[in-house]
Amino acid sequence: MPHRWIRRPEPTGLVYGADYNPEQWPQDVWPEDVRLMREAGVTMVSVGVFSWARLQPTAATWDFGWLDRVLDLLHGGGIAVDLATATASPPPWLTHAHPEVLPVDAEGRRLHHGGRQAWCPSSPVYREHALRLVEEMATRYGGHPALVLWHVSNELGCHNARCHCEVSAAAFRGWLRRRHGDLDGLNAAWGTDFWSQVYSDWEEILPPRLAASYVNPTQQLDFARFCSDELRGQLRAERDVLRRLTPDVPVTTNFMIMGGTRDMDYASWAADVDLVANDHYPDAARARPEIELAFSADLTRGVAGGRPWLLMEHATSAVNWQPVNVAKPAGSLRLGSLAHVARGADGACFFQWRASRAGAEKYHSGMVPHAGTRSKVWRDVVALGRDLAALAEVAGSRVVSEVALLFDWESWWAAELDAHPSDRIRYREIALGWYEALWRAGVSADVVPPDADLSGYRLVLAPTLHLTTDETNRRLAGYTAAGGHLLVTYFSGIVDENDHIRLGGYPGAFRDLLGVRVEEFFPLPPGTAVRVRDEDPGPERTGTQWTGAERTGTQWTGAERTGTQWTGPERTGTQWTGTHWTELLETGTATAVARYTDGPLAGVPAVTVNRYGEGRAWYVATQPAPDAAAALLARVRAEAGAGPVAEAAPGLELVRRSGPEADYLFALNHSAEPAWLRAGGTDLLTGTEHDPGGRTAVPPNDLVVLRTRRR
Ligand code: GLA
Ligand code: GLA
Repeated sequence: MPHRWIRRPEPTGLVYGADYNPEQWPQDVWPEDVRLMREAGVTMVSVGVFSWARLQPTAATWDFGWLDRVLDLLHGGGIAVDLATATASPPPWLTHAHPEVLPVDAEGRRLHHGGRQAWCPSSPVYREHALRLVEEMATRYGGHPALVLWHVSNELGCHNARCHCEVSAAAFRGWLRRRHGDLDGLNAAWGTDFWSQVYSDWEEILPPRLAASYVNPTQQLDFARFCSDELRGQLRAERDVLRRLTPDVPVTTNFMIMGGTRDMDYASWAADVDLVANDHYPDAARARPEIELAFSADLTRGVAGGRPWLLMEHATSAVNWQPVNVAKPAGSLRLGSLAHVARGADGACFFQWRASRAGAEKYHSGMVPHAGTRSKVWRDVVALGRDLAALAEVAGSRVVSEVALLFDWESWWAAELDAHPSDRIRYREIALGWYEALWRAGVSADVVPPDADLSGYRLVLAPTLHLTTDETNRRLAGYTAAGGHLLVTYFSGIVDENDHIRLGGYPGAFRDLLGVRVEEFFPLPPGTAVRVRDEDPGPERTGTQWTGAERTGTQWTGAERTGTQWTGPERTGTQWTGTHWTELLETGTATAVARYTDGPLAGVPAVTVNRYGEGRAWYVATQPAPDAAAALLARVRAEAGAGPVAEAAPGLELVRRSGPEADYLFALNHSAEPAWLRAGGTDLLTGTEHDPGGRTAVPPNDLVVLRTRRR
């Protein structure tokens, strides 16, 4: 089935490729590049990402000859091109002539060229020059037969997301006028009666620059929104030029949904592109980098509305920007790459094709390493090309999940503002912790923005959904009332979109839904914990809710795997620990599920559940230790009827993609021990047939992709 974003007959199936930067190499290397790309099974490369200085050597001169030759050569070799607009990094002549384009940090320091992305996202001078380049690119290459996709800029906001210069200040004021209407609206939204901040003239309003004390939190929040919108504005401006000149060529840009980035609200950007693309580099310091990878991939799919997306960049081996850049052992490349494919990527591309011999990233791995093709990396690259070809029919299929985890950039920004009850709130880590419990249980989850359609999910998790709109509150209440199962965790539903507290007891947005009322937060300092004990679930809650015959079958498979995690009454009285946060909470209509047994809140409920309409709403007021979170989630999932993808050995990563004619069950074994799952079908990677009723083995550090045809 052809995708919306593929205009040309090729590439079909899954995309395989890299950033290709031929300008870094003599021309006699180029034919060799194309030959090796074919050998590796490369189908598409991104060209021109950092080529501005070569394409426009001075303000008045252009040089496209070399790029013409590159595109012709690639086309001759059957390699499709994702052509960059080349605007990511302005050449030195531009910022030399127009230093006002350079970004300024919160302390008023102007950054200089010499690195990359040295431009202010609000600069009209930058915008004008960039759009002229886009226009030239689209005019010259719009009809080139190699072109299948436009690549706007590169990782917008990677280094220049927040500029505090005078131009940004003026643009911020314009943005604030549109949001708040007049100064009264702004003063009310920002709560400027606090600390004598009432504004009487728009010119008085600044970006949140270095100040003597905490800067107004709503000012900080609005600036975060503004900065994301300004970068998005650049994306849209470039896209509009491309759509005008080449309406048939789809447009993408590479998002950075991975640890360490939070400035870009990609949920709001996704609708601006024809294809969502993401870059992902795992953090080698993490104990289980594959779980963060899975979370990022599921969030990428979530912002893409469930549609297939493209992994635009990852690394064949080491990166160059972590404290110690650990290389990937032989064979481990494929598991990481195919984990993205399992989670909805319709291809896997790298930064970059040929490892550079000069420049700041010369120690970053590429598909062709410094050592050349007689290397572990090249062998793995060629093997991955074969795997992706074997998985071609997976393209276009969609991941199926019964569980949604809500992820919201505005809650992220708001929850981590300064001057809060605790500086230990790490929004993404909290979400990732709950996600990890699902991952470890083999449960597939969609990580989605709060405005996603929730009606199809059996269970929705809302970890620390701190800032909510009235609309979100209504939707979550509606989802639950209609029979949904909702789990909300601490510091959720606290503020409205202006970061004003919802009064009357926390969590103001969800008091009725959760059936609880919190008087006061009792956050826990580092190194401290509270003990918690599960309550007797009572006769009403045992038996009926999870082992009932009506739940076995399609809805709740894999009793063996889940049965170990929550066995009902015998868990009663189980002790566990909470960290980070506790709350002075009283139940209204909710029932206590667990209580603190020590500390100042001994006897106070730590976990509650409330019947709400046809559904149930759980509240977790502390940060349970990972085992306790897993046990609680197993219980909640059992009630909701949200089971694992298949019955399997613990620790196996499981995801199912569904196409029009077949399902594809990906089972990835990240451990050094053999694993198994109870499922069969044809393994697309080996062609082996596995008995549908039997156990399929998954060797250590390996995977199977089992196809079962639908009748
Ligand atoms: C990002 C950029 C690339 C490169 C890689 C290195 O993803 O888009 O240009 O710098 O990081 O990991
Ligand atoms: C000082 C200030 C008050 C308030 C408190 C907060 O005492 O005078 O305005 O900021 O600190 O602890």
